[in-house]
Order: sequence, then C-alpha cells, then structure tokens
Amino acid sequence: MADPMTDPVEDPMLDLSGLAYRWPGSGFGIDVPRLTIPRGQSLFLHGPSGSGKSTLLSLICGILAPDRGAVRLDGRDLATLGARARDRARADGIGVIFQMFNLIPYLSGEANILLPLRFAPARRANCPDPQAQARRLADELGLDPQVLAIPAARLSVGQQQRIAVARAMIGQPPLIVADEPTSALDAQAQAGFVDLLFDQVAQAGATLLLVSHDDRLAPRFDRQLALPDIARITRGAV
Ligand SMILES: Nc1ncnc2c1ncn2[C@@H]1O[C@H](COP(=O)(O)OP(=O)(O)O)[C@@H](O)[C@H]1O
Ligand SMILES: [Mg+2]
Repeated sequence: MADPMTDPVEDPMLDLSGLAYRWPGSGFGIDVPRLTIPRGQSLFLHGPSGSGKSTLLSLICGILAPDRGAVRLDGRDLATLGARARDRARADGIGVIFQMFNLIPYLSGEANILLPLRFAPARRANCPDPQAQARRLADELGLDPQVLAIPAARLSVGQQQRIAVARAMIGQPPLIVADEPTSALDAQAQAGFVDLLFDQVAQAGATLLLVSHDDRLAPRFDRQLALPDIARITRGAV
C-alpha cells in the first residue's frame, strides 16, 4: 500500500522535506523529514499540548523561517522566491484560522474578513465584489448580517470564530490551515463548527490541515496523523 509519507504523491498541495527548526533559547526543536498533503485532502494532525503543533504551522505559514529544509506550497519552493514573492505566495496560498482567531479588535467583522485580500492578489482576483463575497460567506456560516458592522472586540466567541473562518476562506486560497479552532467550544458547538468548516472547504475544493490536541474530531477527516509519528522532537539544553 502506498505510504503518503515515504511515497510522496504527485504534485501535492503541501510538501515539507527535511524541515528543522529550534526555538532560540528554549531548547525545543522539531524535525519533520517529510510530510506531503495531496490536493483536496483533509488532514487531522494530533499532538499533545506543547508538542510543537503551532510551531509547525508557523513554519508552514511563514511566520517562522526554518533552520533547514523546504516548504513547497502549491508547486512552489518558497525558499527560491524573493521575500515579497514569498509573502504573496503564502497570502495567496494559505487561509489561516488561528487558535485565538487573531481578529483585529477595533475593525468590524467585515473589515476583518476582507483583510487578507490586501496582501493576496490572486485571492483578490477571485472576488470581483469582495463585500458581496464577505456577506455570502457570513450568511453561509450562519452569521447575522448586522454582525459584519460590529467591531470584532464586541463579538461573542462563536461569532469571532465564524468571522475567522470567513477570513480564511475569502478569495478561495487552495490550502486552509487551522490551529485548534474548536478549543474554545463545547462538544456540540465543536461538531457544528466542523460541519461549517467542511462545507466551506468542500465548496472551495480546498485542502485542509487542522491541528488539535483533542482527537475526537479525527474521524471526520480523510487522513489522521499523530505529530510524534511524523516529527522528531528534541528538548533540552541549548
Ligand atoms: N515564542 C516561543 N519562544 C520560545 N520557545 C517557544 C515559543 N513558542 C513555543 N516554544 C517552544 O515550543 C514548544 C512547543 O510549543 P507549541 O508549538 O506552541 O506546541 P503546541 O502548539 O503543540 O501546544 C513549547 O513547549 C516551547 O518550548
Ligand atoms: Mg498550539
């Protein structure tokens, strides 16, 4: 049987190889020899708290630069691009749902949804009428249209979470990355949230990578991996 880690698929959405990063001053290091995610796959990556999930996502999203190794996103090796082209490739290629949602508190829900388009020309080209797309996403995510006018700081956790999903989806980036997006929700709200997320991802034909310490959501995904099975972790003196 094909092993997606040792027999990488042809033209994957994401391909990490020989990736290594060590946090300066902490002694925590992560090594990922190979991880490939085929186009259109939903992948659940499980790992206990402190195992390096957010660090790995930061490397994928370009918030952190790896010490070694390559990130190939949508067919392009990010290290071969100049800084501006790399930032654009990431903003165009990845919609991110952060653990704490990271909305801009003083901006309205709508302005938060539209924000990634400023940095992502291909996503902007995918929505000729950005406001209309923001409203459509909000509607599909079950958000009352009035919520779009309210500053993010005044929204409930559930509303903020839906705004965060709409912000990740706007302009149809091919890869959606989500960092424990359900950790603030009870079990019933979690299931509803995952339904909404899967609907959006399927509609857009996107690839999904979701990390969590809570493996109850795992069965919903095409593929499940445990972080310790794909990554070598080192802890200790610097
Ligand atoms: N800003 C930071 N500075 C130094 N070390 C960090 C920082 N963030 C995370 N780490 C180290 O990386 C380890 C893994 O953290 P993280 O990737 O956030 O794990 P997870 O998301 O799985 O809970 C932490 O235990 C810590 O040692
Ligand atoms: Mg984390």
